[in-house]
Amino acid sequence: MRYEGRFYYRGELVEACIEIGEDGKIERIKKSMDGCEKIDGVLLPGGIDIHVHFREPGYEYKEDFYTGTLSAAFGGITFVVDMPNNNPPIDSVELWEEKKSTVGKKANVDFALFLMLKSYNGDVRVNAPFKWYMYEENIEKKNVPKGVFITVHAELKDCISSSSYLRGYDFARPEACERKAIKKLGEYGRKFHIAHISSVDSVDLCKIFGFTCEVTPHHLFLHRDMELGAFGKVNPPLRARWQAEKLWDSLINGRIDIVASDHAPHTIEEKEQDFESAPPGIPEVETYLPIFMRLVKENRIGLRRAVEVLMEKPAQLLGVKKGKIEMGYDADLIALKFSDVKRIRARDLHYKCGWSPYEEFYGIFPHSVILRGEKVIEKGEIIAERTGKFIPVPRGEES
Ligand code: DOR
Ligand code: ZN
Repeated sequence: MRYEGRFYYRGELVEACIEIGEDGKIERIKKSMDGCEKIDGVLLPGGIDIHVHFREPGYEYKEDFYTGTLSAAFGGITFVVDMPNNNPPIDSVELWEEKKSTVGKKANVDFALFLMLKSYNGDVRVNAPFKWYMYEENIEKKNVPKGVFITVHAELKDCISSSSYLRGYDFARPEACERKAIKKLGEYGRKFHIAHISSVDSVDLCKIFGFTCEVTPHHLFLHRDMELGAFGKVNPPLRARWQAEKLWDSLINGRIDIVASDHAPHTIEEKEQDFESAPPGIPEVETYLPIFMRLVKENRIGLRRAVEVLMEKPAQLLGVKKGKIEMGYDADLIALKFSDVKRIRARDLHYKCGWSPYEEFYGIFPHSVILRGEKVIEKGEIIAERTGKFIPVPRGEES
């Protein structure tokens, strides 16, 4: 298979033809070759989202692996890593294997699966990254494995309370609580990846301890004083507008490593309960890459930095050969036109929950999506379903 067009290659857009092997990997990149299919617009590596909640097993009424990965594909995300807070929680290798086989039959993009850190017993069969919810349990240093990727939800049980309204929720789970949790992690002398960082002071702490961190689109684009009610309830909470602006600066200047969505859908009925009873979480896997592409068009972020934080670095953190248009990498590609700016409407998205806090936003969605060389979306239509595949996350160096 050969595709030609304007590719993002080593920091620039270049006219080229790429050849893809039977195994779905890029074999050759040349100025021109015979028999290349022309793709319109700009071709970028597919987006990589290392933090999604696709709710299967247990909460399929909110989302399932089919709808979650379909939404991802339409939003230009070709590889996702799904969280283990399912029902039952994925806290054993057996449950992880079972989930892998069930969701694998429904995946529209490639995927890996987190395993709860507390359940890790040194079993080397699992090619999984790990998740630690600090507000749920303390894990002693001797039980924190080396040489595996560990994402941490950094909030502690003893400094969180509840609130009956959105602005108050920021004070109920304050930034100081996140800092306290990160400082505690600093005592472990290990490498951690901090999920959904919500303040620039926390970013500084990550730098001090040598941790990597991710920021969510909602902590960048939404804030606590918006009229969102429980639809803006999320953990950690939305902060002040100035904080969101400073997080954006930290992302641009390289202090924050990557963007990950923390796509956490709940139904409209659940969110319409009173604020205190409504579950925390915001759906966003389909909208954040398109919003970023619109911001690239408006010169709010350079294309190079956008590709780094949405594609290259997330893949590098996990050690998977994705996120780059390079020989030997999976041919996961998205094609878009910077003139295709579109108002985001929840009814056009593919989530099961049917709502989005980004209705007022504009985005540039890909018109075509290619997964390991095969087109899955063409001219805005899904043309190949359930072709996503499990991707093992390799073990890192002991550190
Ligand atoms: O807001 C959140 N929602 N934060 C989490 O850590 C979990 C997530 C969920 O699963 O709904
Ligand atoms: Zn999460």
